Amino acid sequence: MNALFTYIPGMRSLAKRFGIAVPSKRDAARDLILETLPRGSVGAEIGVHLGDFSEEILTTIKPKVLHLIDPWEFQESPIYQKSLYGGEDGHGVEEMNQRYQGVCARFTGQIENGTIKIHRAYSNDALESFEDGALDWVYIDGNHLYDFVMQDLMLSFRKVRPGGYITGDDYGDGGWWQGGVKKAVDEFIKDNAVTPIAIKGGQFILRRE
Ligand SMILES: C[S@@+](CC[C@H](N)C(=O)[O-])C[C@H]1O[C@@H](n2cnc3c(N)ncnc32)[C@H](O)[C@@H]1O
Repeated sequence: MNALFTYIPGMRSLAKRFGIAVPSKRDAARDLILETLPRGSVGAEIGVHLGDFSEEILTTIKPKVLHLIDPWEFQESPIYQKSLYGGEDGHGVEEMNQRYQGVCARFTGQIENGTIKIHRAYSNDALESFEDGALDWVYIDGNHLYDFVMQDLMLSFRKVRPGGYITGDDYGDGGWWQGGVKKAVDEFIKDNAVTPIAIKGGQFILRRE
């Protein structure tokens, strides 16, 4: 149903006029990602935070294995002042430990049965630990600064099998990361064998050729 609002021009404003609740463009685009990623697949979410999107992935895609990658580390540098893991929103080291423990508690059953594997690590270290081509897809939503996103994209290209998907969040201008996601994704598309499937609502879906 949500896809209807995404694909048919004018549907969103029409529905709003009649008081029908419509998902935000971001939610609709995330739904498209969830519709696109293969059921029963092996994938990785980079940047987990509290595990909200992880839960959606779990219930929709029903992955064979879902790797959750996040260092849950408080960043002191002023660059991260406005991020969720620095400055006031980051709250400090104790808060990061609590977020990590909260995610472990939230998915206890799936961790025990092997469906979820938690990597408390930076994305480059966690991704390097996988065999090349071992993943069906990656969702990139970690450090949004240009260098980090480019690194996530390049590593994902190696770790995702041909025909798999490289996807992610916060494609757009501005933000505390100064458009780093958009710049990295645009350059990456130009220089690598990927086909853009959709770029909308701040989300991007690329298929690795
Ligand atoms: C925007 S939040 C993720 C939100 C989550 N994907 C969701 O939609 O519910 C960004 C997360 O990225 C994590 N992060 C920051 N730097 C990272 C890195 N280098 N590798 C992996 N995760 C990172 C932060 O700790 C934070 O929890």
